[in-house]
Amino acid sequence: MKAPSNPMLSIRGLQVQASGSKGTVHMLRGIDLDVARGRIVGVVGESGSGKSTLASAVIGLLPSNARRISGEIRFAGRDLMSLGEGEMRELRGDRIAMIFQDPMTVLNPVFTIGTQLIDVIRRKSPRTRADAARAQAETMLTRVGIPDPASRLRSYPHQLSGGMRQRVMIAMALATDAELILADEPTTALDATVEVQIVTLLKELQRELSGSVLFISHHLGLLAEFCDDVVVMYGGMVMETGPMDEVIADPSHPYTKALLACEIDDAPHGKPLPTIPGTLPSPREEPGGCLFAPRCPRATEACFQIKPEMTEARPGVAARCLRIGDD
Ligand SMILES: Nc1ncnc2c1ncn2[C@@H]1O[C@H](COP(=O)(O)OP(=O)(O)O)[C@@H](O)[C@H]1O
Ligand SMILES: [Mg+2]
Repeated sequence: MKAPSNPMLSIRGLQVQASGSKGTVHMLRGIDLDVARGRIVGVVGESGSGKSTLASAVIGLLPSNARRISGEIRFAGRDLMSLGEGEMRELRGDRIAMIFQDPMTVLNPVFTIGTQLIDVIRRKSPRTRADAARAQAETMLTRVGIPDPASRLRSYPHQLSGGMRQRVMIAMALATDAELILADEPTTALDATVEVQIVTLLKELQRELSGSVLFISHHLGLLAEFCDDVVVMYGGMVMETGPMDEVIADPSHPYTKALLACEIDDAPHGKPLPTIPGTLPSPREEPGGCLFAPRCPRATEACFQIKPEMTEARPGVAARCLRIGDD
């Protein structure tokens, strides 16, 4: 990834640990990441790589047993760590919008879609008149592909399908006109056809978006459809970053290669994707070498002993692998 001088989101050395009954859990082991303005950045990695922890840390909603050990999170130049809970709450849902796997984490079951969407619109522009806000809400629903928006505004969340609820959540995120949208696996619970529709929608909206998007998924092929940049995570670390097209065309890290191989053996729709042999490193351990070495087809003796640093593989692409440049 290019190192923009003034990124929307900039994370440095972020370490998060949780304390459990069996000791310390390493959730994030030192994350460096930039989201440039106006870019859509995909974060990919198997389940358990730390993707959701990363998103939670940005919005200041880490699980209660987790704590940030070190690092810096800057949003539009502002140090998020120095903000109090009240200031953080103001940022969430205003300058930072969130889209989750379960729309019901955002939608309130006791209010109509219209009430909730109009509320977002009027919070953003308090002087909008009620009828104008309603008209804007209808436009918003149309924009995210919801038919018959006038009657949909009168619906309650449970009256909509999962796919439609996701669209409403996207509409709410767009209505905030946030500078940063954090999307954590928003399509994972949907069936493959609806997932494609939602991603197609995001791709169309990409042109209109003024803000940046951090889109989390365990599915690299999905992210490749619409992301500008990619961040590959493994065991709470970043393994590779770069422009999506370049990384996909020629992955530098064996883990990225393995993720990509899962996509190439593409399973029929509805079937789980093939998986990488072996298991994720235990979050309780702190191995001396590369976290991926035990599963890596290219690992040498050194890989088990030396912790690799992020290394530039070629301009714009960096990977955490000792063997960069070996071939
Ligand atoms: N509240 C918690 N307490 C202890 N460990 C946790 C907690 N939440 C997540 N973890 C662990 O942190 C690691 C990262 O989890 P997570 O961020 O949810 O990964 P992902 O979203 O990529 O699936 C995993 O090892 C997971 O088991
Ligand atoms: Mg997750």
